Amino acid sequence: MTSNIIKFIHEDRIIEVRNPDPSETLLNFVRTELRKTGTKEGCAEGGCGACTVVLGELKNNQINYIAVNSCIMFLPALQGKQLILVEDLISENGSLHPVQQAMVNYHGSQCGFCTPGFVMSLFSMFKNHGRFKDEVIKDSIAGNLCRCTGYQPIIKAARSLNNRNKIDHFTRNKQSIIALLKKINNKSIAIYKKDKKYFAPRYIQELKKILKKNIDSHLLSGGTDLSLIVTKERKDINSVIYMNSIEELNYIKNNGEYIEVGSTTPLIKFENYIQKYYPDFTAVLKRYGSQQIRNVCTIAGNIATASPIGDTLPILLSLDAKVVLKSIKKTKIISLNDFFIDYRKTKLKKGQFIDSVRIPLFPKNIFKAYKISKRFDDDISSVCASFNLEIINEKVKNIKIAYGGMASIPKRAKYCEKILLNSSITEPIINKAKEALEKDFKPISDMRASRKYRMEVAKNLLRKCFLEITQKKLIRVMD
Ligand SMILES: Cc1cc2nc3c(=O)[nH]c(=O)nc-3n(C[C@H](O)[C@H](O)[C@H](O)COP(=O)(O)OP(=O)(O)OC[C@H]3O[C@@H](n4cnc5c(N)ncnc54)[C@H](O)[C@@H]3O)c2cc1C
Ligand code: FES
Ligand code: FES
Repeated sequence: MTSNIIKFIHEDRIIEVRNPDPSETLLNFVRTELRKTGTKEGCAEGGCGACTVVLGELKNNQINYIAVNSCIMFLPALQGKQLILVEDLISENGSLHPVQQAMVNYHGSQCGFCTPGFVMSLFSMFKNHGRFKDEVIKDSIAGNLCRCTGYQPIIKAARSLNNRNKIDHFTRNKQSIIALLKKINNKSIAIYKKDKKYFAPRYIQELKKILKKNIDSHLLSGGTDLSLIVTKERKDINSVIYMNSIEELNYIKNNGEYIEVGSTTPLIKFENYIQKYYPDFTAVLKRYGSQQIRNVCTIAGNIATASPIGDTLPILLSLDAKVVLKSIKKTKIISLNDFFIDYRKTKLKKGQFIDSVRIPLFPKNIFKAYKISKRFDDDISSVCASFNLEIINEKVKNIKIAYGGMASIPKRAKYCEKILLNSSITEPIINKAKEALEKDFKPISDMRASRKYRMEVAKNLLRKCFLEITQKKLIRVMD
């Protein structure tokens, strides 16, 4: 069934929006249509967290609560979900939610501009975790900036929640919200508004049919890259196909040889799964944007964006990942190594979409990945490096090294790999391999880092990798 009416749950009832402007942001809708101005706009690009709201999604008969940046989410993505705003946290009898009360008790707010965003991030933490360890607290608020209170009072407020009763009015109302979510969760969306078109298919077959008729459409997954065309460049996107309603593509499978990640799988789901196989992959992903970003964004979006500083890309290159591309009739499996052509240009053709990504398993190999950015959390890489190698009889075998931030595309370091292959790990070899990086890459200077800095960092990361291998211990600043 296809409809042009977006239905979502707010204040315990179903709200319908008929044929909306498909590129209106959720933030704009909340403030101007719902007239709820607690949610703030700071940066309009997903970076400050002031606009954080929480969405309730139906998963396996339960509600999954996710914090999102409403400034970079388009309104139709609300279809089938529960919208929770900061105004909704207070109980009917006027008492504050435990999260709000904790912020009061611990003086977690001064000017208050960031406060609704922090409260919503902490609310999402409160709903999703049983215990609030410092690691969980910091991860939950890493996407929220505060410029006057400072973070310590907010962290103390969050820690105090460990002693609070976890039953709130959302727990008490849960069954009735689940019943409402079930009522609205079952249709595909097609919106035609002036010169704009928006489609949200629910099945791959439907997606293919829509693609056939709308070959010039932009595919939209988490929107954490694409939406910035609207919010930052102030341009319109005329035709959009929203992928993230396709549950068939939201999966992680493992056949013992490789892990396959469906293209609509949120990064946060993958980040937890991959920890067991490649802990450094998870360590990099924990510093990728924020929870608000990772709750919606996808590896497929990261690959298709093809940014030279996309964090998953050097890691996937070093792991020899393959991209499964589908079009109306054909399926093509292509090595990621052959996928990037030039700055933000890929082999993806019109009418094709990324169906999934296959990440080989190398149980015998040593795998390491490092992200270097100006700010530890919620910052884009200056340089990202990834190493995947086997050591047999003290010699380096099967080595794959890739870097981001060192060229116009994320790229393997082929000259460097050649020096290391079949060699023992000695100081002269490491030095030669470092020199080879000069042949592999000619980095540029930009606002994130100078050319010289990037090269120095790339060499130091190589050295760090081999020091960690030979000394059999991790060298990490945060340890
Ligand atoms: C505040 C903020 C912080 C960020 N931090 C990081 C970071 O630390 N590291 C990092 O690497 N990136 C970061 N990003 C960039 C962005 O989050 C990533 O590139 C993300 O992976 C994009 O995924 P998405 O699902 O949101 O893609 P979208 O924005 O939906 O789409 C991005 C591009 O991919 C295409 N696309 C989407 N899905 C498909 C598909 N299935 N098949 C074919 N094409 C498709 C779209 O048409 C579009 O061209 C950040 C962005 C923001 C706003
Ligand atoms: S307004 Fe800054 S993240 Fe949305
Ligand atoms: S309280 Fe002022 S920015 Fe956080």
